[in-house]
Amino acid sequence: MMRRTGLSSSPHLPVMLGEVLDALQLRPGGLWLDLTLGRCGHAKALLDRTAPDGRLVGVDRDTAALEWARDFLREYGDRVRLEHGNYSELSRWVPDGSCDGALMDLGVSSPQLDVAERGFSFQREGPLDMRMDLTQHLTAAELVNGLSEQELAKIFWDYGEERASRRIAKAIDEARRVSPILTTLQLAQLVEKASPRAGSRVHPATRVFQALRMVVNDESRSLQSGLAAACSALKPGGRLAVITFHSIEDRIVKSFGNLMSRDYDFEGPVDDPELRRPKKPVLRWLRKKATMPGEAEIAQNPRARSAQLRVLEKLP
Ligand SMILES: C[S@@+](CC[C@H](N)C(=O)[O-])C[C@H]1O[C@@H](n2cnc3c(N)ncnc32)[C@H](O)[C@@H]1O
Repeated sequence: MMRRTGLSSSPHLPVMLGEVLDALQLRPGGLWLDLTLGRCGHAKALLDRTAPDGRLVGVDRDTAALEWARDFLREYGDRVRLEHGNYSELSRWVPDGSCDGALMDLGVSSPQLDVAERGFSFQREGPLDMRMDLTQHLTAAELVNGLSEQELAKIFWDYGEERASRRIAKAIDEARRVSPILTTLQLAQLVEKASPRAGSRVHPATRVFQALRMVVNDESRSLQSGLAAACSALKPGGRLAVITFHSIEDRIVKSFGNLMSRDYDFEGPVDDPELRRPKKPVLRWLRKKATMPGEAEIAQNPRARSAQLRVLEKLP
């Protein structure tokens, strides 16, 4: 079955499932959060591991994911509560200090990428959409055709770390003067022409698409407030597991964790040891380094190759 704006039926493999389940120290009972339901691979495993009475609050900003979840998790009955919205709004759904563990598996889901009409993929012809939440207005087409050349270059640089950001923005500007850029392949081919990368395994449009997606969905800001919201929702001893897929996301998680696990504050923009004031840390890192998927997982699920898992524990 393939829904027009929904989720494809290709097999779905949750990323680093074993590592996530271990990190969260799942046990029967308790209240658990899956803040990025997607195709519910992790959610289902969470419910199985917390049977017979563990409860799950599942969140996604994509109504197609929730529609899928309603069906896919039906067998768990009232152990599951589904909420539509941005995970940064978590305090609307669960009280502070009430949850035993939380998962954020960031980015787009495989089905969002696979359904051409969603406009996330530079390999499938579709409208330049890229909205995770189809109830919002802003689309990638509006950014590509509406922002100035300088604004586009800045986005490609800031959110895609794209070295040819200016050249690509200029090519877009020239092309849209002739006619608007409305489809994924139109944009991908334009980027490829402006910045060909012979011999590279990474498609030249990868970073531009990532940057547009991040801005359309306000991903950096959502992540910053979502991490804080998840941390507030946890009980002491509860753990937050976060899977990131690129360095910008990972940097946000790392600096959030470092800030919350520090036992001091400082005044001003730089850490001057003379100006430190002691403070009680709120979280601790389980491991300083991120965990990466093993070779076997990457061979089975190439989309896992850039994943990094970081885990924090709430302190008493
Ligand atoms: C990588 S997928 C999750 C896959 C899932 N763990 C599974 O096993 O199928 C990420 C999902 O998170 C959702 N998402 C991303 N950012 C979000 C946000 N700020 N709030 C709520 N959901 C978000 C996306 O719509 C997508 O469905």
